[in-house]
Amino acid sequence: MIKPATTRKRRSPGDRGQAVAMIEGTLERARQEPRVEFYFAVAKACDEARVIGFARIGLAGVKAGTLDYAIAAGERGHGYATDAARTLTSYEFAELGLHRVSAAIGPDNARSIALVAKLGFSREGVLRDHVFMNGAWRDSLLYSLLAPEWQENNVRLQRATEAFNAAISRPGSAESFDRDFGKKSH
Ligand SMILES: CC(C)(COP(=O)(O)OP(=O)(O)OC[C@H]1O[C@@H](n2cnc3c(N)ncnc32)[C@H](O)[C@@H]1OP(=O)(O)O)[C@@H](O)C(=O)NCCC(=O)NCCS
Repeated sequence: MIKPATTRKRRSPGDRGQAVAMIEGTLERARQEPRVEFYFAVAKACDEARVIGFARIGLAGVKAGTLDYAIAAGERGHGYATDAARTLTSYEFAELGLHRVSAAIGPDNARSIALVAKLGFSREGVLRDHVFMNGAWRDSLLYSLLAPEWQENNVRLQRATEAFNAAISRPGSAESFDRDFGKKSH
């Protein structure tokens, strides 16, 4: 996983050089044909000029992609990563026609695990000694989402949204919303 300079509290000139090289590499790969990498920059509506994070997919295998994301340290916990990952995942399935999207996550990365769980990813298993970081080999947990699962989640979300809208616009219909959607555990 590439750690962008935006996640660090202090930047040295070396960090800046790394960040510039990363962006230049990203732009170059975006021009390649066929394109194998897609980046989604995250910025706040009130400050669109400042990129606070990204979501990325790299295409690999047959109709498959890997998902990565990061948000600047001071901007976490506001749902930006979930929003970006959901948007990019939808793009992968709906626009790129992928069948499978996977994410490899460090076992201690509770935020990232919570994020993919919200998007409906399933845990597949452990990738042993998957990354070499800070002088040691480390495992990753592998999560994935398949196109039919994404489709099914979309239908459920749409039904819930319609029922919610009906519940708040019709007095007395909140009970039926609870009955249909509120008590489900999945
Ligand atoms: C992982 C990361 C992108 C999450 O960014 P974020 O903007 O905080 O994510 P969101 O706010 O969209 O969602 C985080 C979820 O984690 C949950 N969370 C926050 N702190 C948590 C904790 N300590 N334990 C468990 N869950 C936690 C949040 O509650 C939220 O879920 P919710 O919306 O259901 O409440 C960010 O922490 C990051 O950039 N980390 C460094 C890079 C990285 O690890 N990338 C992922 C590589 S796979």
